[in-house]
Amino acid sequence: MSGGAYRHLGYTATSLDGFVSARAMNWWSRIFGSLTPKPAARTAPPSLDPDIVYRESVYRDGRRQRLLPGGREVNLPPFTYNADGLATVHDASFLVDPRFREAYRRGASSGHRICPPEQLHIEWRVYLCCWAAAHAAKLPGDFVECGVSTGVVSLAVCRYVEFEKLGKTFWLFDTYGGIPAEQVTDAERPLALSKNQRHYFDSYALVQENFSAYPNVRPVRGKLPEALDGVDLGALAYLHIDMNIAYPEVEASRRLWERMTRGGVIIYDDYASPAHSEQKRALDGFAAELGVEILSLPTGQGLLLRP
Ligand SMILES: C[S@@+](CC[C@H](N)C(=O)[O-])C[C@H]1O[C@@H](n2cnc3c(N)ncnc32)[C@H](O)[C@@H]1O
Repeated sequence: MSGGAYRHLGYTATSLDGFVSARAMNWWSRIFGSLTPKPAARTAPPSLDPDIVYRESVYRDGRRQRLLPGGREVNLPPFTYNADGLATVHDASFLVDPRFREAYRRGASSGHRICPPEQLHIEWRVYLCCWAAAHAAKLPGDFVECGVSTGVVSLAVCRYVEFEKLGKTFWLFDTYGGIPAEQVTDAERPLALSKNQRHYFDSYALVQENFSAYPNVRPVRGKLPEALDGVDLGALAYLHIDMNIAYPEVEASRRLWERMTRGGVIIYDDYASPAHSEQKRALDGFAAELGVEILSLPTGQGLLLRP
C-alpha cells in the first residue's frame, strides 16, 4: 500500500469525511460563490490516447464543466470520489454504508505510521478487498495476506466479513520489520528504503493485539517467500499481496497459485501505481507464464481470478 496522503484540491472531495468537506464547500460557495466565478483549475487531463483530448473546469463549489470544440461549455456531474489517484462520478454509495464505514474505520485506526487515520483516504482500495473477501468467504479455502504492516486492509476485511464466524484461517505474513534490503532492485531502492524509515517498524505485537478478537487469524513473522514453507497451508480462496517490491510478490504468487481455489481472488496492491512499475512488469511476466491476465484497476490494484 502506498498510503494515500489525501490532497484536498479545493473542490468537492467525496470520501468518508469528504461529505463533510463537501458541505463545508457549499457553505463557502453560498457566501463567496458569486465572488469567485473563476474555476479553481482548468485542465486537460492527461491521456495516453491522443484522441481523448478535452478541457474541464472545476469550480470551488464542486461544479464541473467541459469545454466542447465549438467553445460551448456543458455541465458535468460532480465527483463522487476523488482521492488516492482516482476521481470518478460513478456510484460510490459504499462510502455511506455503515458496514463498510465501520470496517474502514477499524483498519485506518490500526496504528500505522503513514499519516493520521482520518487522512488515510484509500477507501476504494479497501472496498475492493472487502468485496473480494465477501466473495471468497463463500468458496472453500483460507485467506492469506503477504505484507501486513499494522493490518489496515486485513482488519477492515475481518470486520467486513465477520471473519471470526467463518470456518477459515487468515494467514498474515510479514517480516514485521520492513522490506528486506537484499530483495530490492536498484530502481526500487530509494522508495523501499524511504518507506522502511518512515512507515515500517516492529509491528508484530501490535498486529497480535489488533487481531485479538479473531482467534482464527494467524500472524506469521518471516521473510517471504521462504516464510511460506514454515506453515501448513491448505487451499486458498483470498490472497492479498502488498509488499511494495517485485521479487517476493512474484515468488509468493508462484508458490501460492496452485493452492488457489477455482474462482479464488488475488489482489495486487500498487500493481498499477506509477511508483511501482517494476512490480507490474514482473507480475505481468508471471501471469503470462501461467497464461492469465491481471486486470488493471483504476484504484491502482491488480485483480487476478484463478480460472
Ligand atoms: C505496504 S506494507 C503492507 C500494508 C498492509 N497491507 C496494510 O493493509 O496495512 C508492506 C509490508 O510488506 C512487508 N514486506 C516487504 N517485503 C517483504 C518480504 N519479502 N517478506 C515479508 N514481508 C515483506 C513489509 O514489512 C511491510 O510491512
